[in-house]
Amino acid sequence: MIIAPSLLASNHARLAKEVQRAERSGAEWLHIDIMDGHFVPNLSFGPAIVEAIRPLTRLFLDVHLMCSKPEILLTPFAQAGADQLTVHVELGDHVTALLWKIKSLGKKVGLAVNPPTAVAQLIPHLAHIDTLLVMTVNPGFGGQPFIHETLPKLQQAAEWRQKKGLHYRIQVDGGINFKTAGECARAGADTFVSGTSLFAAPQLGAAVKKMRRTVRENDPARANLTV
Ligand code: DX5
Ligand code: ZN
Repeated sequence: MIIAPSLLASNHARLAKEVQRAERSGAEWLHIDIMDGHFVPNLSFGPAIVEAIRPLTRLFLDVHLMCSKPEILLTPFAQAGADQLTVHVELGDHVTALLWKIKSLGKKVGLAVNPPTAVAQLIPHLAHIDTLLVMTVNPGFGGQPFIHETLPKLQQAAEWRQKKGLHYRIQVDGGINFKTAGECARAGADTFVSGTSLFAAPQLGAAVKKMRRTVRENDPARANLTV
């Protein structure tokens, strides 16, 4: 299991301290949302922010590109120190080339699917990704309520992974709290992005531990053992 606090929900006036707080929390990844004001109606961080953060932490930097033209951003974010670059399947015909470009930059490859988009659109790409990101809210803003209708996509992603003998991670992002993390774990998720529920907590380390416990208690493998 991987827990990835989302920097979007941190206090941006003290970004360096927030990154260090995330590092000390015991989380494995730091999720960084990149918004272009076009693919989503908001703006967030650019490559300069990732470059500034990189020397402050050894956390795996998980860069989520909610952008209409990620092709112009992949090299800058790779050079800035991203460990994984995730693009959206809604970009259609561009996706294959984008995934190859990420791989050629030596980075882990992520592919995201928005709530209204059919999960079947992921099928041609499954063998080429390290992480399959199921968006559990419509992207653009933190603090939105979890969309339960996305849960079957997690089951489908887990079924494909098993049947096809693949190894991608199944990540969820949006509205993930101490309850919805459990529901996602039961449906097959293993990688949990959480902004508001983690960064708003007074003790980030305790919040990460609590989320880990919720996920572990809902681990389908463990549930099978106790039957
Ligand atoms: C949503 C972003 C998320 C966001 C999640 O557009 O992709 O990563 O930070 O925030 P919460 O956990 O507050 O929903
Ligand atoms: Zn995100």
